[in-house]
Amino acid sequence: MTPMTGLEHADLLSDDAVIDPYPLLAALREHDPVHWSTRYRSWFVTRYDDVTAALRDPRFSSDRIAPYRRAKLDGPDADPELRAAFGVLEDWMVFKDPPDHRRLRRLLARAFTPRAVALMAPRIRVIAHELLDDVLAVGSGESDLVRDFAYPLTASVIAEMLGVPKQDREQFKDWSDQITGLVFGGLGNTTRHDAGARGMRELTDYLGRLVADHEQHPGDDLLTAMISARDDRDALTPDEVIATGVLLLFAGHETTTSLIGTGLLALLGDPEQRDLVTGTLDDGAVDELLRFDGPAKTVARVLVDDVELRGRSMHRGDRVFLSPASANRDPSVFERPDVLDLTRTGERHLGFGIGAHFCLGAPLARLETGVAVPLALERLPGLRLAATPQWHPVLLSRGMERFPVRFDVG
Ligand code: HEM
Repeated sequence: MTPMTGLEHADLLSDDAVIDPYPLLAALREHDPVHWSTRYRSWFVTRYDDVTAALRDPRFSSDRIAPYRRAKLDGPDADPELRAAFGVLEDWMVFKDPPDHRRLRRLLARAFTPRAVALMAPRIRVIAHELLDDVLAVGSGESDLVRDFAYPLTASVIAEMLGVPKQDREQFKDWSDQITGLVFGGLGNTTRHDAGARGMRELTDYLGRLVADHEQHPGDDLLTAMISARDDRDALTPDEVIATGVLLLFAGHETTTSLIGTGLLALLGDPEQRDLVTGTLDDGAVDELLRFDGPAKTVARVLVDDVELRGRSMHRGDRVFLSPASANRDPSVFERPDVLDLTRTGERHLGFGIGAHFCLGAPLARLETGVAVPLALERLPGLRLAATPQWHPVLLSRGMERFPVRFDVG
Protein backbone atom coordinates (compact mmCIF):
# COMPACT_ATOMS: atom_id res chain seq x y z
CA MET A 1 0.00 0.00 0.00
CA THR A 2 1.21 3.49 -0.83
CA PRO A 3 1.07 5.64 2.33
CA MET A 4 -1.14 8.74 1.89
CA THR A 5 1.48 11.45 2.08
CA GLY A 6 0.31 13.87 -0.59
CA LEU A 7 3.31 12.68 -2.56
CA GLU A 8 1.44 10.15 -4.69
CA HIS A 9 2.01 12.27 -7.80
CA ALA A 10 5.53 13.42 -6.96
CA ASP A 11 7.37 14.01 -10.21
CA LEU A 12 11.10 14.71 -10.38
CA LEU A 13 10.55 15.83 -13.97
CA SER A 14 7.98 18.52 -13.18
CA ASP A 15 9.14 21.98 -14.30
CA ASP A 16 9.81 23.04 -10.69
CA ALA A 17 11.70 19.88 -9.77
CA VAL A 18 13.89 20.03 -12.87
CA ILE A 19 14.97 23.54 -11.85
CA ASP A 20 15.36 22.62 -8.17
CA PRO A 21 14.79 18.99 -7.14
CA TYR A 22 15.82 19.47 -3.50
CA PRO A 23 12.46 20.48 -1.93
CA LEU A 24 10.78 17.45 -3.48
CA LEU A 25 13.64 15.14 -2.52
CA ALA A 26 13.45 16.48 1.07
CA ALA A 27 9.72 15.78 1.21
CA LEU A 28 10.21 12.25 -0.11
CA ARG A 29 13.09 11.62 2.31
CA GLU A 30 10.97 12.71 5.24
CA HIS A 31 7.52 11.35 4.41
CA ASP A 32 7.93 8.56 1.86
CA PRO A 33 11.58 7.48 1.77
CA VAL A 34 10.83 4.36 -0.28
CA HIS A 35 8.41 5.83 -2.77
CA TRP A 36 6.53 3.99 -5.50
CA SER A 37 5.97 6.19 -8.54
CA THR A 38 3.04 5.10 -10.66
CA ARG A 39 4.17 7.60 -13.31
CA TYR A 40 7.58 5.97 -13.77
CA ARG A 41 6.54 2.52 -12.55
CA SER A 42 9.64 2.59 -10.36
CA TRP A 43 10.77 2.98 -6.77
CA PHE A 44 12.62 6.08 -5.54
CA VAL A 45 14.89 5.62 -2.49
CA THR A 46 16.06 8.88 -0.91
CA ARG A 47 17.62 8.38 2.57
CA TYR A 48 21.40 8.27 2.94
CA ASP A 49 21.49 4.97 4.84
CA ASP A 50 19.15 3.25 2.41
CA VAL A 51 20.92 4.52 -0.71
CA THR A 52 24.30 3.46 0.72
CA ALA A 53 23.05 0.01 1.70
CA ALA A 54 21.33 -0.54 -1.66
CA LEU A 55 24.42 0.45 -3.63
CA ARG A 56 26.28 -2.28 -1.74
CA ASP A 57 23.50 -4.87 -2.01
CA PRO A 58 23.78 -7.46 -4.84
CA ARG A 59 19.98 -7.74 -5.01
CA PHE A 60 20.04 -4.25 -6.55
CA SER A 61 21.49 -5.23 -9.93
CA SER A 62 23.23 -2.93 -12.41
CA ASP A 63 22.60 -5.38 -15.25
CA ARG A 64 19.65 -3.61 -16.84
CA ILE A 65 20.64 -3.43 -20.50
CA ALA A 66 20.91 -7.14 -21.32
CA PRO A 67 17.36 -7.97 -20.08
CA TYR A 68 15.95 -5.05 -22.11
CA ARG A 69 17.84 -6.14 -25.22
CA ARG A 70 16.63 -9.73 -24.82
CA ALA A 71 13.02 -8.65 -24.27
CA LYS A 72 12.74 -5.95 -26.92
CA LEU A 73 15.50 -6.23 -29.46
CA ASP A 74 16.09 -9.90 -30.17
CA GLY A 75 12.97 -10.37 -32.32
CA PRO A 76 13.02 -10.33 -36.16
CA ASP A 77 11.30 -6.89 -36.31
CA ALA A 78 13.83 -5.13 -34.13
CA ASP A 79 15.96 -2.39 -35.65
CA PRO A 80 19.46 -3.88 -36.18
CA GLU A 81 21.15 -0.53 -35.52
CA LEU A 82 19.41 -0.19 -32.17
CA ARG A 83 20.26 -3.79 -31.30
CA ALA A 84 23.92 -3.11 -32.07
CA ALA A 85 23.86 0.11 -30.00
CA PHE A 86 22.46 -1.73 -27.01
CA GLY A 87 25.08 -4.42 -27.61
CA VAL A 88 27.75 -1.77 -26.98
CA LEU A 89 26.02 -0.51 -23.83
CA GLU A 90 25.86 -4.10 -22.64
CA ASP A 91 29.67 -4.13 -22.59
CA TRP A 92 29.82 -1.08 -20.29
CA MET A 93 31.03 -2.07 -16.83
CA VAL A 94 28.55 0.32 -15.24
CA PHE A 95 25.76 -1.97 -16.52
CA LYS A 96 27.38 -5.20 -15.32
CA ASP A 97 27.27 -7.27 -12.16
CA PRO A 98 30.08 -9.49 -10.84
CA PRO A 99 31.97 -11.42 -12.07
CA ASP A 100 31.90 -9.60 -15.47
CA HIS A 101 32.00 -6.23 -13.75
CA ARG A 102 35.07 -7.11 -11.67
CA ARG A 103 36.92 -8.33 -14.72
CA LEU A 104 36.24 -5.25 -16.88
CA ARG A 105 37.00 -2.86 -14.03
CA ARG A 106 40.27 -4.63 -13.16
CA LEU A 107 41.46 -4.44 -16.75
CA LEU A 108 40.44 -0.81 -17.27
CA ALA A 109 42.08 0.20 -13.99
CA ARG A 110 45.37 -1.03 -15.51
CA ALA A 111 45.03 1.57 -18.26
CA PHE A 112 43.19 4.41 -16.56
CA THR A 113 45.75 4.91 -13.81
CA PRO A 114 46.22 7.77 -11.33
CA ARG A 115 49.48 8.48 -13.18
CA ALA A 116 47.68 8.86 -16.54
CA VAL A 117 45.29 11.30 -14.86
CA ALA A 118 48.00 13.27 -13.07
CA LEU A 119 49.90 13.66 -16.34
CA MET A 120 46.90 15.56 -17.73
CA ALA A 121 47.04 18.32 -15.09
CA PRO A 122 49.12 20.80 -17.13
CA ARG A 123 47.08 20.13 -20.27
CA ILE A 124 43.80 20.74 -18.44
CA ARG A 125 45.08 24.15 -17.36
CA VAL A 126 46.27 25.03 -20.89
CA ILE A 127 42.99 23.98 -22.53
CA ALA A 128 40.96 25.87 -19.90
CA HIS A 129 43.01 29.03 -20.49
CA GLU A 130 42.59 28.74 -24.27
CA LEU A 131 38.82 28.40 -23.95
CA LEU A 132 38.61 31.40 -21.63
CA ASP A 133 40.83 33.38 -24.04
CA ASP A 134 38.21 32.67 -26.72
CA VAL A 135 35.35 33.69 -24.41
CA LEU A 136 37.12 36.98 -23.62
CA ALA A 137 38.09 37.58 -27.25
CA VAL A 138 34.42 37.84 -28.27
CA GLY A 139 34.39 41.09 -26.30
CA SER A 140 30.66 41.10 -25.55
CA GLY A 141 30.97 40.24 -21.86
CA GLU A 142 28.50 37.40 -22.39
CA SER A 143 28.84 33.66 -22.65
CA ASP A 144 27.14 30.35 -22.12
CA LEU A 145 29.65 28.67 -19.84
CA VAL A 146 28.41 25.16 -20.55
CA ARG A 147 28.71 25.59 -24.31
CA ASP A 148 31.87 27.70 -24.37
CA PHE A 149 33.82 26.35 -21.42
CA ALA A 150 32.77 23.32 -19.36
CA TYR A 151 31.68 21.12 -22.24
CA PRO A 152 34.59 21.73 -24.67
CA LEU A 153 37.06 21.48 -21.79
CA THR A 154 35.97 18.09 -20.51
CA ALA A 155 35.34 16.70 -24.01
CA SER A 156 38.81 17.78 -25.20
CA VAL A 157 40.48 16.32 -22.13
CA ILE A 158 38.97 12.86 -22.46
CA ALA A 159 39.39 12.84 -26.26
CA GLU A 160 43.04 13.78 -25.83
CA MET A 161 43.53 11.10 -23.17
CA LEU A 162 42.01 8.49 -25.46
CA GLY A 163 44.30 9.56 -28.31
CA VAL A 164 41.65 10.96 -30.67
CA PRO A 165 43.33 13.24 -33.25
CA LYS A 166 42.49 16.91 -32.86
CA GLN A 167 40.76 17.28 -36.22
CA ASP A 168 38.19 14.58 -35.29
CA ARG A 169 37.14 16.01 -31.94
CA GLU A 170 34.19 18.14 -33.12
CA GLN A 171 32.65 15.08 -34.71
CA PHE A 172 33.37 13.11 -31.57
CA LYS A 173 31.33 15.58 -29.53
CA ASP A 174 28.32 15.29 -31.86
CA TRP A 175 28.27 11.53 -31.52
CA SER A 176 28.57 11.78 -27.79
CA ASP A 177 25.56 14.14 -27.68
CA GLN A 178 23.47 11.67 -29.64
CA ILE A 179 24.47 8.82 -27.34
CA THR A 180 23.37 10.88 -24.35
CA GLY A 181 19.83 10.52 -25.67
CA LEU A 182 20.23 6.76 -25.70
CA VAL A 183 21.61 6.53 -22.17
CA PHE A 184 19.59 9.22 -20.40
CA GLY A 185 16.56 9.26 -22.70
CA GLY A 186 14.79 6.45 -20.90
CA LEU A 187 14.14 3.01 -22.29
CA GLY A 188 11.42 3.08 -24.91
CA ASN A 189 11.94 6.68 -26.08
CA THR A 190 12.10 5.92 -29.79
CA THR A 191 13.06 9.31 -31.30
CA ARG A 192 16.03 9.66 -29.01
CA HIS A 193 16.87 6.01 -29.57
CA ASP A 194 17.07 6.41 -33.34
CA ALA A 195 19.52 9.32 -33.23
CA GLY A 196 21.42 7.64 -30.40
CA ALA A 197 21.73 4.37 -32.31
CA ARG A 198 23.06 6.17 -35.38
CA GLY A 199 25.56 8.14 -33.28
CA MET A 200 26.65 4.94 -31.57
CA ARG A 201 27.24 3.16 -34.89
CA GLU A 202 29.28 6.02 -36.31
CA LEU A 203 31.30 6.38 -33.13
CA THR A 204 32.01 2.66 -32.79
CA ASP A 205 32.99 2.44 -36.48
CA TYR A 206 35.32 5.35 -35.93
CA LEU A 207 36.81 3.88 -32.73
CA GLY A 208 37.19 0.51 -34.47
CA ARG A 209 39.41 2.16 -37.08
CA LEU A 210 41.28 4.05 -34.39
CA VAL A 211 41.89 0.86 -32.38
CA ALA A 212 43.21 -0.89 -35.51
CA ASP A 213 45.50 2.07 -36.12
CA HIS A 214 46.73 2.12 -32.51
CA GLU A 215 47.44 -1.62 -32.70
CA GLN A 216 49.84 -0.89 -35.55
CA HIS A 217 51.17 2.36 -34.12
CA PRO A 218 50.99 2.33 -30.31
CA GLY A 219 50.92 5.78 -28.69
CA ASP A 220 51.17 7.14 -25.18
CA ASP A 221 47.39 7.24 -24.73
CA LEU A 222 44.49 5.48 -23.06
CA LEU A 223 43.33 3.55 -26.12
CA THR A 224 46.80 2.02 -26.54
CA ALA A 225 46.91 1.30 -22.81
CA MET A 226 43.53 -0.46 -23.02
CA ILE A 227 44.63 -2.52 -26.03
CA SER A 228 47.67 -3.70 -24.08
CA ALA A 229 45.88 -4.00 -20.70
CA ARG A 230 46.13 -7.64 -19.79
CA ASP A 231 47.09 -9.82 -16.89
CA ASP A 232 47.96 -13.50 -16.66
CA ARG A 233 44.28 -14.39 -16.78
CA ASP A 234 42.78 -12.10 -19.35
CA ALA A 235 42.71 -9.09 -21.67
CA LEU A 236 40.05 -6.78 -23.10
CA THR A 237 38.61 -7.97 -26.43
CA PRO A 238 38.62 -5.46 -29.33
CA ASP A 239 34.84 -4.95 -28.86
CA GLU A 240 35.36 -4.30 -25.16
CA VAL A 241 38.09 -1.76 -25.90
CA ILE A 242 35.69 0.06 -28.23
CA ALA A 243 32.75 -0.11 -25.79
CA THR A 244 34.96 1.06 -22.91
CA GLY A 245 36.27 3.89 -25.09
CA VAL A 246 32.67 4.99 -25.67
CA LEU A 247 31.93 4.70 -21.93
CA LEU A 248 34.94 6.81 -21.00
CA LEU A 249 34.11 9.42 -23.60
CA PHE A 250 30.58 9.60 -22.34
CA ALA A 251 31.13 9.25 -18.57
CA GLY A 252 34.24 11.36 -18.89
CA HIS A 253 32.58 14.57 -19.82
CA GLU A 254 28.80 14.70 -19.43
CA THR A 255 29.00 14.57 -15.65
CA THR A 256 32.07 16.74 -15.18
CA THR A 257 30.56 19.40 -17.47
CA SER A 258 27.55 19.42 -15.16
CA LEU A 259 29.63 19.72 -12.00
CA ILE A 260 31.72 22.61 -13.33
CA GLY A 261 28.43 24.33 -14.21
CA THR A 262 26.57 23.72 -10.95
CA GLY A 263 29.73 24.40 -8.93
CA LEU A 264 30.13 27.83 -10.56
CA LEU A 265 26.42 28.53 -10.22
CA ALA A 266 26.50 27.74 -6.49
CA LEU A 267 29.48 30.03 -5.96
CA LEU A 268 27.90 32.87 -7.94
CA GLY A 269 25.01 32.72 -5.50
CA ASP A 270 27.22 32.69 -2.40
CA PRO A 271 29.77 35.53 -2.28
CA GLU A 272 31.21 34.39 1.08
CA GLN A 273 32.08 30.94 -0.22
CA ARG A 274 33.26 32.42 -3.49
CA ASP A 275 35.77 34.54 -1.56
CA LEU A 276 37.29 31.32 -0.23
CA VAL A 277 38.20 30.23 -3.77
CA THR A 278 41.77 30.99 -4.73
CA GLY A 279 44.25 29.02 -6.83
CA THR A 280 43.13 25.45 -7.35
CA LEU A 281 40.25 23.90 -5.40
CA ASP A 282 41.41 21.02 -3.21
CA ASP A 283 39.58 17.70 -3.32
CA GLY A 284 37.60 18.55 -0.17
CA ALA A 285 36.19 21.70 -1.77
CA VAL A 286 35.35 19.93 -5.04
CA ASP A 287 33.64 17.19 -3.05
CA GLU A 288 31.53 19.79 -1.24
CA LEU A 289 30.41 21.25 -4.60
CA LEU A 290 29.52 17.70 -5.57
CA ARG A 291 27.63 17.04 -2.33
CA PHE A 292 25.79 20.33 -2.53
CA ASP A 293 24.60 20.06 -6.14
CA GLY A 294 26.15 17.18 -8.05
CA PRO A 295 25.23 15.48 -11.33
CA ALA A 296 24.12 12.12 -9.86
CA LYS A 297 20.45 12.89 -9.23
CA THR A 298 19.67 9.18 -9.26
CA VAL A 299 21.36 5.92 -10.23
CA ALA A 300 19.20 3.08 -11.52
CA ARG A 301 19.09 -0.55 -10.44
CA VAL A 302 16.84 -3.54 -11.13
CA LEU A 303 15.90 -5.96 -8.35
CA VAL A 304 16.96 -9.56 -8.86
CA ASP A 305 15.15 -10.62 -5.67
CA ASP A 306 12.26 -9.41 -3.52
CA VAL A 307 13.32 -6.76 -1.01
CA GLU A 308 11.58 -5.37 2.10
CA LEU A 309 12.60 -1.81 2.90
CA ARG A 310 11.01 0.46 5.52
CA GLY A 311 7.84 -1.59 5.42
CA ARG A 312 7.53 -1.48 1.64
CA SER A 313 7.57 -4.68 -0.42
CA MET A 314 9.64 -4.36 -3.54
CA HIS A 315 9.54 -7.15 -6.07
CA ARG A 316 12.02 -8.93 -8.24
CA GLY A 317 12.18 -7.18 -11.63
CA ASP A 318 11.20 -3.77 -10.18
CA ARG A 319 13.22 -0.75 -11.25
CA VAL A 320 14.68 1.36 -8.45
CA PHE A 321 16.12 4.85 -8.61
CA LEU A 322 18.54 5.44 -5.74
CA SER A 323 19.18 9.13 -5.19
CA PRO A 324 22.71 10.29 -4.28
CA ALA A 325 21.48 13.91 -4.65
CA SER A 326 18.93 13.31 -1.91
CA ALA A 327 21.29 11.27 0.30
CA ASN A 328 23.81 14.12 0.10
CA ARG A 329 21.27 16.49 1.67
CA ASP A 330 20.10 14.07 4.38
CA PRO A 331 20.00 16.07 7.64
CA SER A 332 20.53 12.94 9.74
CA VAL A 333 24.02 12.70 8.21
CA PHE A 334 25.08 16.22 7.18
CA GLU A 335 24.80 19.24 9.45
CA ARG A 336 23.02 22.14 7.71
CA PRO A 337 22.82 20.07 4.52
CA ASP A 338 21.36 22.87 2.40
CA VAL A 339 24.32 25.13 3.11
CA LEU A 340 27.41 25.14 0.89
CA ASP A 341 30.52 24.99 3.05
CA LEU A 342 33.78 24.46 1.18
CA THR A 343 35.59 23.78 4.46
CA ARG A 344 33.20 20.97 5.40
CA THR A 345 34.74 17.70 6.62
CA GLY A 346 33.12 14.54 7.93
CA GLU A 347 30.74 12.04 6.42
CA ARG A 348 31.42 11.03 2.85
CA HIS A 349 28.99 12.09 0.17
CA LEU A 350 27.57 9.71 -2.44
CA GLY A 351 28.08 11.96 -5.47
CA PHE A 352 30.49 9.46 -7.03
CA GLY A 353 28.41 6.48 -5.87
CA ILE A 354 29.76 3.90 -3.42
CA GLY A 355 30.66 0.21 -3.50
CA ALA A 356 31.72 -1.83 -6.51
CA HIS A 357 30.73 0.80 -9.10
CA PHE A 358 32.30 3.78 -7.30
CA CYS A 359 33.25 6.25 -10.03
CA LEU A 360 36.49 5.20 -11.67
CA GLY A 361 36.97 8.70 -13.03
CA ALA A 362 36.71 10.52 -9.68
CA PRO A 363 40.38 11.67 -9.67
CA LEU A 364 40.01 13.13 -13.18
CA ALA A 365 36.69 14.81 -12.33
CA ARG A 366 38.21 16.34 -9.19
CA LEU A 367 41.24 17.56 -11.09
CA GLU A 368 39.22 19.15 -13.92
CA THR A 369 36.71 20.82 -11.60
CA GLY A 370 39.44 21.97 -9.20
CA VAL A 371 41.18 23.77 -12.07
CA ALA A 372 38.19 24.96 -14.10
CA VAL A 373 36.01 26.57 -11.42
CA PRO A 374 38.62 28.92 -9.89
CA LEU A 375 40.06 29.78 -13.31
CA ALA A 376 36.68 30.90 -14.66
CA LEU A 377 36.11 33.05 -11.55
CA GLU A 378 39.59 34.53 -11.83
CA ARG A 379 39.59 35.30 -15.54
CA LEU A 380 36.00 36.51 -15.99
CA PRO A 381 35.78 39.55 -13.68
CA GLY A 382 32.42 40.31 -12.12
CA LEU A 383 31.05 36.97 -13.31
CA ARG A 384 27.28 36.79 -12.75
CA LEU A 385 24.23 34.97 -14.01
CA ALA A 386 22.70 36.69 -17.07
CA ALA A 387 19.41 34.79 -17.33
CA THR A 388 17.68 31.76 -15.88
CA PRO A 389 19.71 28.64 -16.66
CA GLN A 390 18.10 25.82 -18.60
CA TRP A 391 18.31 22.38 -17.00
CA HIS A 392 18.40 18.92 -18.57
CA PRO A 393 14.95 17.39 -18.00
CA VAL A 394 16.20 13.90 -17.09
CA LEU A 395 15.76 11.66 -14.06
CA LEU A 396 19.26 10.30 -13.79
CA SER A 397 21.38 13.34 -14.07
CA ARG A 398 21.35 16.98 -13.00
CA GLY A 399 23.08 19.56 -15.15
CA MET A 400 22.51 22.70 -17.14
CA GLU A 401 21.91 22.73 -20.88
CA ARG A 402 22.51 26.47 -20.97
CA PHE A 403 24.34 28.57 -18.41
CA PRO A 404 24.11 32.21 -19.57
CA VAL A 405 26.50 34.56 -17.79
CA ARG A 406 27.81 38.11 -17.99
CA PHE A 407 31.13 39.53 -16.93
CA ASP A 408 32.92 42.88 -17.05
CA VAL A 409 34.95 43.77 -20.11
CA GLY A 410 37.63 46.38 -20.61
C1 HEM B 1 31.73 15.08 -11.56
C2 HEM B 1 31.93 14.11 -12.41
C3 HEM B 1 31.45 12.71 -12.23
C4 HEM B 1 30.43 12.22 -11.47
C5 HEM B 1 29.47 12.99 -10.58
C6 HEM B 1 30.41 10.79 -11.67
C7 HEM B 1 29.52 9.94 -11.04
C8 HEM B 1 29.54 8.58 -11.14
C9 HEM B 1 28.68 7.68 -10.42
C10 HEM B 1 27.58 8.11 -9.45
C11 HEM B 1 29.00 6.42 -10.78
C12 HEM B 1 28.37 5.13 -10.24
C13 HEM B 1 27.24 4.68 -11.10
C14 HEM B 1 26.51 3.49 -10.53
O1 HEM B 1 26.72 3.11 -9.36
O2 HEM B 1 25.68 2.95 -11.25
C15 HEM B 1 30.08 6.51 -11.73
C16 HEM B 1 30.68 5.43 -12.36
C17 HEM B 1 31.66 5.56 -13.32
N1 HEM B 1 32.29 6.71 -13.73
FE1 HEM B 1 31.93 8.57 -13.06
N2 HEM B 1 31.40 10.45 -12.55
C18 HEM B 1 32.07 11.58 -12.90
C19 HEM B 1 33.14 11.69 -13.76
C20 HEM B 1 33.73 10.63 -14.41
C21 HEM B 1 34.87 10.72 -15.29
C22 HEM B 1 35.66 11.99 -15.60
C23 HEM B 1 35.11 9.45 -15.76
C24 HEM B 1 36.15 8.91 -16.69
C25 HEM B 1 36.87 9.55 -17.52
C26 HEM B 1 34.13 8.58 -15.15
C27 HEM B 1 34.05 7.23 -15.37
C28 HEM B 1 33.21 6.38 -14.69
C29 HEM B 1 33.19 4.95 -14.92
C30 HEM B 1 34.04 4.17 -15.91
C31 HEM B 1 32.21 4.44 -14.07
C32 HEM B 1 31.78 2.99 -13.94
C33 HEM B 1 32.48 2.34 -12.80
C34 HEM B 1 31.98 0.94 -12.56
O3 HEM B 1 30.90 0.56 -13.05
O4 HEM B 1 32.70 0.20 -11.89
N3 HEM B 1 33.31 9.32 -14.34
N4 HEM B 1 30.40 7.83 -11.93
